[in-house]
Amino acid sequence: MKIKFLLILTSLFFCLNSCSKDDNEVAATLEAPIANAPKEVVDNGFRAKWNYVSNSKSYLLDVSTNENFTSFVSGYESKPVTDLNEVVVGLTAGTQYFYRVRAKNETEISGYSNVISVVTTGLSGIPEDPTFLKVKANKVANPFFVGMAVKAAQLTSGSGYDIILKNEFSSISAEYEMKMDPISTASGVYNWAAADKIVAYGNANGINVHGHALVWHNAVPNWLKDFSGTDAEFALEVKKYITDVVTHYAGKVKSWDVVNEAADDNGGNMRNTIFLQRMGPNYIKDCFQWARDAANAAGDTSLLLFYNDYATSTNIPKQDRVFTIVDDLKASNLIDGIGFQMHNTYLSPTKAQIETDLNRAVTKGLKIHISELDIQVNQSNDISTFTNERRLAQKEKYKEIVKIYNALPAANKYALTVWGMKDNESWIPYSTELNHVGNDWPLLYDSNFAVKSSHTGFLEGLD
Ligand code: XIL
Repeated sequence: MKIKFLLILTSLFFCLNSCSKDDNEVAATLEAPIANAPKEVVDNGFRAKWNYVSNSKSYLLDVSTNENFTSFVSGYESKPVTDLNEVVVGLTAGTQYFYRVRAKNETEISGYSNVISVVTTGLSGIPEDPTFLKVKANKVANPFFVGMAVKAAQLTSGSGYDIILKNEFSSISAEYEMKMDPISTASGVYNWAAADKIVAYGNANGINVHGHALVWHNAVPNWLKDFSGTDAEFALEVKKYITDVVTHYAGKVKSWDVVNEAADDNGGNMRNTIFLQRMGPNYIKDCFQWARDAANAAGDTSLLLFYNDYATSTNIPKQDRVFTIVDDLKASNLIDGIGFQMHNTYLSPTKAQIETDLNRAVTKGLKIHISELDIQVNQSNDISTFTNERRLAQKEKYKEIVKIYNALPAANKYALTVWGMKDNESWIPYSTELNHVGNDWPLLYDSNFAVKSSHTGFLEGLD
């Protein structure tokens, strides 16, 4: 009985002891603070804010220009603060900063809070990197063409546009003048003027010429849309067009998008185009075969044939469809590469989505053309001026995609083409396909031909 009583007493003692110890420990453990969005953001500073942590006596504030805090803004490494906010001063305008905070009592320090990103207002005094894109792209381990979408009227010798194009870009694609609608005015009748000017410009200046695009549902001339012949005669018209155009540019154009956008956006289906309707499911293969035959007959045995499409990184059924098309072409040895348009936004696709998409082409041993890159920053029409946040977010996105592209194996690289030079000339806000309301700033140069941070991001992607 005595022993039992003693046992109960001892366990009671231990229990009380450990319970009270636990209480002390809980009380002594400082929670990490929650950092809040900044206030009073100005050109050279902002007010950093965070929540109260019980038992804390002060806070330690870190401010950095990088998210990982590998370096600190001078004076802001574990800066002691006794309030729940601090005005951070002495910063550079138009620049991204990050802050985080820890709570402290006498001796104890909590873990880190969440990290808050803030971009100071005003234009950054930090000059953009003036290095020419193609100069840097030619120096990487496995170089590739840096391409630009052009219009014939922009190619006036000595213009600002012409100078930048020659300095920075090593490939061109016609933005629309090498499509079927502008070239083919009637059966067997061609208007070569604008397309010839573009091709001659590339050839004369040592710039690669990518042909875009032989067959596209959005550039079918009216005479062909209204064609009253049989389906077999329709196919012969398409064959004649492809043959004549490829022959005309044989030896002058290095590569062609033979078929553009044949996959539908829904359900991984084939797009229900006039070509599918009139020529049947084998039409893509037929078009590639006709292009190949015409090139060979004209003595150009190294013409590269591409299939080109968009939104395959985010739309997986569509991606699957595109790779089914490609597998089919590959089985007949008719395709050399895939064009990924990449009309992206500052939020999408993610790095992983792009990598997965491109890697499917790598495993098939195909050349990869990022063929129409632009990065929207106002796809939801929520800004009316190009804000610093969006400017820097866009810079990161350009950097990311260039980095992904540059990391591809040498054999899979071809060109990375940007779809337009100046923001104010981009197709994005005017496109009928995109339904983009409001303005946007998707490119590498502003309306005065000044390089943007996106251009610096492009260069940084080549590091
Ligand atoms: C766009 C051009 O940028 C516009 O100027 C033209 O009016 C319509 O075509 N996918 C493509 C490109 O393959 O050819 C399109 O270019 C954009 C979408």
